[in-house]
Amino acid sequence: MSRVALVTGGSRGIGAAISKKLQADGCSVAATYAGNDEAAAAFSAETGIKTYKWNVADYDSSKAGIAQVEADLGPVEIVVANAGITRDAPFHKMSPEQWQQVIDTNLTGVFNTVHPVWPGMRERKFGRVIVISSVNGQKGQFAQVNYAATKAGDLGIVRSLAQEGARAGITANAVCPGYIATEMVMAVPEKVRESIIGMIPAGRLGEPEEIARCVAFLASDDAGFVNGSTISANGAQFFS
Ligand code: CAA
Repeated sequence: MSRVALVTGGSRGIGAAISKKLQADGCSVAATYAGNDEAAAAFSAETGIKTYKWNVADYDSSKAGIAQVEADLGPVEIVVANAGITRDAPFHKMSPEQWQQVIDTNLTGVFNTVHPVWPGMRERKFGRVIVISSVNGQKGQFAQVNYAATKAGDLGIVRSLAQEGARAGITANAVCPGYIATEMVMAVPEKVRESIIGMIPAGRLGEPEEIARCVAFLASDDAGFVNGSTISANGAQFFS
């Protein structure tokens, strides 16, 4: 598979594993990041994958950034909307700012990432859109009204895009990771994290590479008839 792939939030955590896996499968990969220059530089040095800095919450920055990626690598054929943040708080303590930041990045960020590449995919009659949702978008989560709303929204996005893109050779699917061993999950207080692991029948956190392999399948030519679906990879924590 020699295609151009764009991975947002692609230099750290699950996104970094996705970038590396798509590169190993033969793609030319562009990985975006929002702010951590040091991590992005280390990632590029390690992998040779070019990184691009923009804020997915900003439409104009996303559009300009994607234009640069396409000038450098060619038309984007695979887009992985992975960038996401948490601003966890029980609802009675959640501020409007915490709500809005998560909506802007996790939900509007998906629109801003996919919308600029969509016309080209339609014209070329090929595209793979993969959105990284979450088990917490499927089941809800204490202290994550904002995050769960965006991750449930992701499923609505892919199910709608799937219907719009199917005749144009474009698929849109979601992956719902459970709790994966990344900085995001490690930021959860240890006692809470331990109790969450106790609720995962697999008895462990997932590895970023386990999510990357799901994405690689959805990105592959083999997955052309898989459209509007959700792969849950959560160690049997939740079934939907
Ligand atoms: N279910 C039920 N009750 C819970 C709970 C839960 N999951 N988590 C916390 N509580 C309770 C506590 O026991 C405590 O109760 P008491 O007051 O009776 O002792 C109360 O809620 C916490 O109240 P606080 O005022 O102390 O809460 P806080 O303002 O300090 O917030 C927190 C703490 C933000 C909720 C913190 O516990 C936390 O971060 N929890 C984890 C939330 C979570 O799972 N986030 C997922 C992050 S990973 C991710 O998002 C990736 C992915 O896709 C899976």
